[in-house]
Amino acid sequence: MPRILITGATGFIGSYLVKYFIKKGTQIIAHGSTKETINKLRNTLEDEHIDSIDFWQQDFLAQKWNFPDFSEIDYIIHTAAATKIREGTLENYDKYFNLNAIATKKLAKKALNENIQHFIHFSSGQVFGIPPSFPFTETTPKKPINIYGFTKLLGEIVVLSFANLGLKYTIARPFSVYGKGQQNIISIINEKINKDEILTIYGDGTQSRAFTHVNDICEVIGIILNNSKCFGEEYNLSGTKEYSVNDLVGLISKSLNKKPKIVYKKASVNELRRNLADTAKIQKLGFNYKESLEEFIENELNS
Ligand SMILES: NC(=O)c1ccc[n+]([C@@H]2O[C@H](COP(=O)([O-])OP(=O)(O)OC[C@H]3O[C@@H](n4cnc5c(N)ncnc54)[C@H](OP(=O)(O)O)[C@@H]3O)[C@@H](O)[C@H]2O)c1
Repeated sequence: MPRILITGATGFIGSYLVKYFIKKGTQIIAHGSTKETINKLRNTLEDEHIDSIDFWQQDFLAQKWNFPDFSEIDYIIHTAAATKIREGTLENYDKYFNLNAIATKKLAKKALNENIQHFIHFSSGQVFGIPPSFPFTETTPKKPINIYGFTKLLGEIVVLSFANLGLKYTIARPFSVYGKGQQNIISIINEKINKDEILTIYGDGTQSRAFTHVNDICEVIGIILNNSKCFGEEYNLSGTKEYSVNDLVGLISKSLNKKPKIVYKKASVNELRRNLADTAKIQKLGFNYKESLEEFIENELNS
């Protein structure tokens, strides 16, 4: 039975990947940075799934790492990262650089030395910065505009440097992922409106994103993992439809049947106004989107 190491398994996307692959009959090594986050993940697993999973606790900012037994690992899905765009300030530069670039180097080097069959690296749509037109493709030049985007791009380059030495890799770039349990713009708007609290919107609310459901991300990773045609390729995992912050406020307040209380403020870090990629390349792999944001807001968000 194949064994997958999922780094960042305690995070939002990682925890969905763990459950997705266990259900497919795969053995998992789930990584997290602390005992607490690993215990939290363990507590969300169904009893019958516990036998399919081992855990690896390692802070990737530590100098010395204790690796698990790599001779038993077939694939690596590397999602662990510093992920908050607004936290990516000058004060946090070292953390973002060390996690998104240096930790990726340590792991990719180990994957190469241990002949891992496929190393899937999670990057981000933020590596493109402001593209010349929308929807943009995988070949669009990458010019990030914030520290998060720059350090994610460095992570990609690190992976590429090992590819030349023989690492079989694929770069997957999610775009604004949503789903139950995610702390993001959707859950924040929902909570504020639900509690009749003031909702602060940075900018004028017309900035938009092509949201992608986490189940769709798991499906596409499932397709990529066993496909040797994906070696050396990069895939933009974007949604197909754009929603502005104001659209989200409208959809959520309608679903809750409440009137939002909004304050608009100036954004503090460079953020993108739009982010929408062409999805032809992933759809050519046979992947089809199953989830809809409207249905999620209506049926799942407050269930
Ligand atoms: N969610 C999105 O919309 C989105 C969009 C584009 C790209 N991505 C990319 O997708 C990947 C997963 O994102 P996510 O939303 O699931 O992120 P997340 O919920 O913030 O999870 C981050 C993961 O990284 C781990 N991590 C953080 N600091 C660490 C450290 N010092 N040492 C070791 N591990 C550490 C966390 O482990 P602990 O919890 O155990 O500390 C957690 O498992 C990331 O690479 C991100 O850049 C996500």
